[in-house]
Amino acid sequence: MTTQVNTMSLITAPPTLPLVAPSILSADFSNLGNECKAVLDCGADLLHLDVMDGYFVPNLTMGPALCNSLRATLPEAYLDVHLMVNKPLMYVQSFADAGANLFTAHVEAEDDPFEVAHAAHTAGMDAGIAINPPTDVQELLPFIEAFDLILVMSVNPGFSGQAFIPEVLTKVEFISSQLRPDQRLQMDGGVSLKTCNACKEAGCDVLVAASAIFGTGDYPSAIAGLRDH
Ligand code: DX5
Ligand code: ZN
Repeated sequence: MTTQVNTMSLITAPPTLPLVAPSILSADFSNLGNECKAVLDCGADLLHLDVMDGYFVPNLTMGPALCNSLRATLPEAYLDVHLMVNKPLMYVQSFADAGANLFTAHVEAEDDPFEVAHAAHTAGMDAGIAINPPTDVQELLPFIEAFDLILVMSVNPGFSGQAFIPEVLTKVEFISSQLRPDQRLQMDGGVSLKTCNACKEAGCDVLVAASAIFGTGDYPSAIAGLRDH
């Protein structure tokens, strides 16, 4: 089965909610194309790419070249790029050229979020803004209207397999009350069968999961479980 995704409207006008976004950080990198095809064929809606620069977070992961390879292998896939980097503006055009659909940067990064949103939109991508667990939601509020997606981190970013931080759910509830119908609210970090219901009840409609999907041997059940549990 080949997954057909209307990439242009997946975020702002999704066919069903919640959307399930496997983070490829826990995939087998030596078999990445097949791993990505497998999760899409097993019901995933989009692919979440975690980009880390070794400064914003203490880890190094992937860049535009990997995104470009996935775009070539999976022309219909919606590629959600989550940048945990200090200077996201530097990478807008290279990820757009690499076929990214969504460009999400952090409110804690050095660049002005309005400039990031404008640059991503001008380059033809959806724009997202992420907030870390310790950051006050008031720092995010002025920027929300400019973005297609808000990402609330439920772990301190850098690594998959960490424990969910339940205190972020009150932040999610508040952000959810501020959003338009065409804006998505994404949760990332420690999302599993145990925590997904709390995320959905708080208002999240895009669930990112790395270990809860790629750490299992049963992608269809893992993905359906997150969506329908
Ligand atoms: C963490 C990344 C997440 C991570 C999630 O810094 O942004 O996307 O891969 O991993 P799990 O789902 O295992 O917590
Ligand atoms: Zn992520």
